[in-house]
Amino acid sequence: MNHESQPAEPVPLPIDPGVRLPADILSRLDLAAVFPAVRDVEVELGSGDGSFLAEYAALNPGRGFLGVERLLGRLRKLERKALRRGLSNLRVLRLEAGYVLRWKLASGTVSALHVYFPDPWPKRRHWKRRLVNEAFVEESARILRLGGRVFLRTDNEPYFTQMREVFGRSARFVETDYPSEVASVVTDFERDFNSRGIPTLRVAYQRSDVPGLANGRAGEPS
Ligand SMILES: C[S@@+](CC[C@H](N)C(=O)[O-])C[C@H]1O[C@@H](n2cnc3c(N)ncnc32)[C@H](O)[C@@H]1O
Repeated sequence: MNHESQPAEPVPLPIDPGVRLPADILSRLDLAAVFPAVRDVEVELGSGDGSFLAEYAALNPGRGFLGVERLLGRLRKLERKALRRGLSNLRVLRLEAGYVLRWKLASGTVSALHVYFPDPWPKRRHWKRRLVNEAFVEESARILRLGGRVFLRTDNEPYFTQMREVFGRSARFVETDYPSEVASVVTDFERDFNSRGIPTLRVAYQRSDVPGLANGRAGEPS
């Protein structure tokens, strides 16, 4: 086989340094500076290879999206998706999700938080390592604007129960409908689980800060 007839090797896209935000741990993120042209910024914690975020950001060009992922290989896949689609409204950050929630995001700056298939830590003695717990609820209420929403999905029933319990106990959130335009964008893990017959458990909460509505549903009398 001569040189000319060999199939061309795919050339990896160079990563645009603007897609990845500096993993500076000392200062709060200035989301208004990162996304100057948009009002609403949504954050996904543990975004994996970005199968949800890249598609959702493409569907919503008027909003800004921040993906947080600690594994470099997955983060790079998300970066490449952003470049391939020419997304100027998507940025990624390689830091620990709980740290970002607690220390990087400023109060009242986020309009939606997405957490899909977080590590379930199935052994009971490891449950304290789960991302979605009481502290997560408090920090979510802090970073979200009033009316902002948290979208959660998992395949793991005990973790789903824990998610519902911690949010159900909070006076700062009410359960709200899970919109089909969000649910219809599936994640990589979700596609895999669903193909093996494992259903998605999903729930959404809205920051209300109306104490009487705790454990109720948005739009319904408490
Ligand atoms: C089970 S995967 C789900 C990925 C993606 N959300 C999906 O549904 O396809 C969990 C992801 O969260 C990331 N992750 C787990 N713990 C994390 C943490 N503390 N900080 C940042 N990322 C984390 C993992 O690296 C992994 O990519």
